Amino acid sequence: VLGLLVATDARWAQGAARDLPRVLCDHAHCEMKAASNALSLAGRCIGHAEVMRALVELAEEELRHFRRVLEELERRGIALGPPSEDWYAAELRRRVARGRAQGALDGLVIVDRLLVASFIEARSCERFKLLASALASADPALSAFYDQLFADEARHHRLFCELATRVCGDEGHVRMRQSEIALIEAALVGELPLAPEIHG
Ligand SMILES: [Fe+2]
Ligand SMILES: [Fe+2]
Repeated sequence: VLGLLVATDARWAQGAARDLPRVLCDHAHCEMKAASNALSLAGRCIGHAEVMRALVELAEEELRHFRRVLEELERRGIALGPPSEDWYAAELRRRVARGRAQGALDGLVIVDRLLVASFIEARSCERFKLLASALASADPALSAFYDQLFADEARHHRLFCELATRVCGDEGHVRMRQSEIALIEAALVGELPLAPEIHG
């Protein structure tokens, strides 16, 4: 689904459903990072007015997600601690940068960053769906919340793909990078420890 070549191991959702405080704290940080990443990308796309506006709107939506997860934490009396390192996202960026042509133009670097973001959205989206299913009987309200977020993040995945194509202007290049990044992402997911975190 959503351009992902491998599915998350089913054991991940079982473990995550057993440690909701850790999942919710990690999830809150993911939404905050998604908002700040969208804003940082907006700042690098000043020359593409429509792309920039779409990214600012996305940042606002991610902040709304952040607030909703915060409310969920408050309702449960869970304090938000400091973020743990998102190894998946950081390593995906590193490996994609390593696979990029040396001295690639700045525009192509931004295209890669937009595509990496599209994969992070896709993987988060896949995992929200797994979490929604795992929580369906034990916590229907939280399950419904994750179902809603599944739809939002699927839309974000498509948006990042569209924006990459618009910034790049060369659909062939975007398709090629998508195939390359999909392989990198699939290998990376196989190395994850299946910890109770969104990208764990
Ligand atoms: Fe989000
Ligand atoms: Fe998102």
